[in-house]
Amino acid sequence: MDLLQGMFARRWLTNNGPLVRQFEERVAAYLGVRHCIAMCNGTIALEIAIRAVGMSGEVIVPSYTFVATAHSLYWQGLTPVFADIDPLTHNLDPDAVRRMITPKTSGIIGVHLWGRAAPVAALESIAADYGLALLFDAAHAFGCSHEGRMIGGFGRAEVLSFHATKFFNTFEGGAIVTDDDQVAETARLMRNFGFRDFDDVIHPGTNGKMVEVCAAMGLANLDAIDDIVDSNRANYFKYKKVVGDIPGISLLDFNENQRNNYQYVVLEVDSKFPVSRDEIVKVLHAENILARKYFWPGCHKMKPYRDLFPHAELVLPFTRMVADRVIVLPSGTALPDDAIEVIGSLLRVLSQGNA
Ligand SMILES: Cc1ncc(COP(=O)(O)O)c(C=O)c1O
Repeated sequence: MDLLQGMFARRWLTNNGPLVRQFEERVAAYLGVRHCIAMCNGTIALEIAIRAVGMSGEVIVPSYTFVATAHSLYWQGLTPVFADIDPLTHNLDPDAVRRMITPKTSGIIGVHLWGRAAPVAALESIAADYGLALLFDAAHAFGCSHEGRMIGGFGRAEVLSFHATKFFNTFEGGAIVTDDDQVAETARLMRNFGFRDFDDVIHPGTNGKMVEVCAAMGLANLDAIDDIVDSNRANYFKYKKVVGDIPGISLLDFNENQRNNYQYVVLEVDSKFPVSRDEIVKVLHAENILARKYFWPGCHKMKPYRDLFPHAELVLPFTRMVADRVIVLPSGTALPDDAIEVIGSLLRVLSQGNA
């Protein structure tokens, strides 16, 4: 509230205000990176990052991701080329990435899906071998670490989303985080129409600015971030307890040696489970439990990309397999007390073949 009162007293509502600058400083310090450039959402941040590192032609991305990863390229006239994932981690398979490289490839966007790090070292080595730009879509991975380093400092830059559906939000919002001074400077210009100073436009640009009220929300949520993660972690282990021993379904693990945000509780349904994944979702919805299929059926099956690559499925067998198995279960601080037990009991009943 104090932050908002200050904002109204200053009447400084947007255009790189003091709350945005404070938010950027705190995010950069939290992640241990040199620069945080806050944006109006993660998709615009991706679009700007793609331009700031000079991607063109084809860029390799997973199909098993939120469609914004692919759209941020396609929307700007670049071609997203889909590489398959590792069925165990759900992240890009480096060998599959190598197979998709052509003379037109200019970059790779790895996604840290579910907040679990993409194969960073392998992608860095591919990028170095072929002279490609490497970005990470870290929309799921705020507050997560990889090999003891916070996610945010890998590749040329990483992109965060602070959308309201994320465990940490600024209503709508996003950011580019990077240790690269040049990328940071270019992204800052692009975010504000290319203005260097009043009346002085030195770069093409767009409107990617975060507004003060969103930064205030972010600052308040930064104060609460440890409590939110604790609550997500408690939910995750409660789920483990109630569904861990049910045959035919399994929860995706987090590496407890890393920092995780436990934002996504990902259930995989084996073909041996007596009820199909879609039936399970229907049963849960009938009980007003908003479990969701996720990233189904994969970007390559969505109309714009189906039209572009009608046969993509041939090189994406694990994408389809995983997209057909996954359910994301409800979590977060607003989950009612007994929700996880109820979901566990329903899944146990379904495991006995009663839909
Ligand atoms: C993997 C991924 N990339 C990009 C985005 C886009 O972020 P935003 O909704 O902030 O534009 C999201 C989330 O919504 C996402 O999950």
